[in-house]
Formats: sequence, C-alpha cells, structure tokens
Amino acid sequence: MENIEWGSLGFGYFKTDYNVRCYYRDGKWGELEVSSSEEVTMHMAATVLHYGQAAFEGMKAFRGQDGRIRMFRPYENAKRMISSAKGVLMAEPPEELFVEACKKVVKLNEKFIPPYGTGASLYLRPVLIGTGAQVGVHPAKEYLFMVFACPVGPYFKEGFKPVKFQVARDYDRAAPFGTGKYKVGGNYAASLASGERAAKEGYSNCIYLDAATHTYIDEAGAANFFGIKNNTYCTPESTSILPSITNMSLCQIAEDLGLKVERRKIAVEELDTFEEVAACGTAAVISPINEIADRVNNKVYKWGAEAGPVCTKLYQTLKGIQEGLIEDKHNWNVFID
Ligand code: PLP
Ligand code: COI
Repeated sequence: MENIEWGSLGFGYFKTDYNVRCYYRDGKWGELEVSSSEEVTMHMAATVLHYGQAAFEGMKAFRGQDGRIRMFRPYENAKRMISSAKGVLMAEPPEELFVEACKKVVKLNEKFIPPYGTGASLYLRPVLIGTGAQVGVHPAKEYLFMVFACPVGPYFKEGFKPVKFQVARDYDRAAPFGTGKYKVGGNYAASLASGERAAKEGYSNCIYLDAATHTYIDEAGAANFFGIKNNTYCTPESTSILPSITNMSLCQIAEDLGLKVERRKIAVEELDTFEEVAACGTAAVISPINEIADRVNNKVYKWGAEAGPVCTKLYQTLKGIQEGLIEDKHNWNVFID
C-alpha cells in the first residue's frame, strides 16, 4: 500500500498508476487498453472541444472492514452514462464494458484504495468524449471512453459537519427541457460562475432553482437535495436535476428505516418547515446543511450546528453498507476479487 496520509486527503486529483481507455471507431468499440499516461491527444476539431460532447460519471470503491473491496452500484452509473450519451448524441459504452473498465482500474490501482477507517475511498471518474473532428455542429463519429481513479477524502472540508448554501436566483444551471438530467460537461460549465461566487461569499455552493419559475428547489451544487420532516424523506421532482444514485439509495434506506418517501416539488418557502436538510451525492455522501441564504430575497433559513438524527442514521447506514458493516440486502455492492 502507498505511504499516503489517507486521513488528510481532500477531494481532488491524485496521480495513480493506471487508467483504462477504449476507443469507438468505424461504428464499434475496440478493446480496453491500459495506460499509464495522464494525457489525451486529440484532433483540434474534436467535438468535445467545441460543442461539448462530454459526459462523466463519479463513483467510489471502498476497502471494507473485512478487507474486501466493494464498488457501489456501478451498473447504475453505467446506465446513467448511457443516458447521458444518448442526451448529447454520443456513442454509448455498453454496461458490461463500463463495469469491466471500472473493475480493471480499481484492481490496477489497488495500492491506492484507502484503508478501512480512514474516511477516504477510491473515487472513479469514467469519462466519455467526442474525439472525431467536426466543424459544422454535428455529433462526432469517434469517441473515447476512459476511467481514471484517485484516492479522495471528503468533498466538503467539513466532512459530516453541516455546510452553508446560497440560493442562486440570478443564475440557472439547467433548463426544464435541457440537459440537466444528464451528467454532461456543459451543466458544470453553467454552474461555475455561481458556484465560485457562492464560495467567495462564504458558502459551500448554490441551491439551484427550477429555471422556469425560480420557485422550486432543483439541486444543491453538484449534489441532490433532501429534507426531513414528520418522519418523511422529501426530495425534489424535476426534469432538470441529475438522477442521483446516492439519493435513489437513500430513498430506499429511508423506506427500510420506516420513513415515508416523497418525491415532489419543494418550494424555497417550504424550507422553514423542514427539521433537517442535506445535500447528497457520491462525492458529498450526505452533507447536512445548517444554513441556506436567499441572497436576492434577503431571507436566511437555519438548522442546527450538528447533523440531525435522521441524517446521521441515513449516513451511518449508507456508509455501513458500502464498507460491509451492514447487510447489503439490495445487492448494491459489486466486489472486486
Ligand atoms: N447532482 C449533480 C449535479 C451531480 O454532479 C451529482 C454527482 O454525481 C449528483 C447530483 C449526485 O449523484 P450521485 O449520487 O449519483 O453521485
Ligand atoms: C460526484 O459526486 O461524483 C460528482 O460528480 C460531484 C462533483 C465532483 C462533480
């Protein structure tokens, strides 16, 4: 195992030994190739550079208390990448190719999988880009699918401590019939200016509202949003949010724990009525929120300085399943042995 200070890792790029790549040419995917280069060479007219044919995924592998290595729900990430590929007309990496590539990159970088109990994990970043040349606005005929891995710590430096968000009313992330439901690069480009402003003003990130009416909550930065009240897990329903695999899992865990689950529109004004609110995602896991500031309307919503009891139970259950401490009764983990 590498000599790394696992416990002080943040969330960022970290060089590992290998990545894997697969090229789509002449209408078909080639063989998976192993690479130790951090670079990609491509045509200057590649569609990813001009027209944003780019999608990515984010998932994690964990070393369990039993020493076994588990990836969390990679088939769901594979399905979502296929959906993203369809969304911006890219060649779709088949599910089996996607999962095989992820398994391979975990195995090849095994010494970078953080030990159990350090709070860190191995983050996998599958990427799909249009590499074929076009100057007119058309999809490429050639694509590159690759997966790299980095050991990471918590996305927010606070870890499982509450963070502050700011409502972005003067910026939109995604339109109702746009690409918000796909994990494509353009959505992240669209979130940079508001996200950096929020950071400058002392917030972890933005709460994005529905772009049509600016009434309902869409997402919490690069994470989904949920609120808890009256023994109910509530999370937004919208055509412009990314279907989070963490959120989907938490809905199931909440139900298993005896909570009611509601997927419906959540108006900003409803924030006042929630006992707990949080952001959730692969990188964010569950990040409890203790403040949401609506900067345009000059209204501030506040919650406790510590994570609430329901968020804590959801967090412990999710982590417990991912690290092999709690029975994985829905068969979410894929073992790398
Ligand atoms: N929403 C956005 C915009 C994201 O980038 C992510 C991260 O992947 C999520 C939600 C959470 O999704 P998941 O739980 O599948 O990681
Ligand atoms: C993830 O949770 O995997 C994300 O994609 C969030 C962010 C790092 C883009």
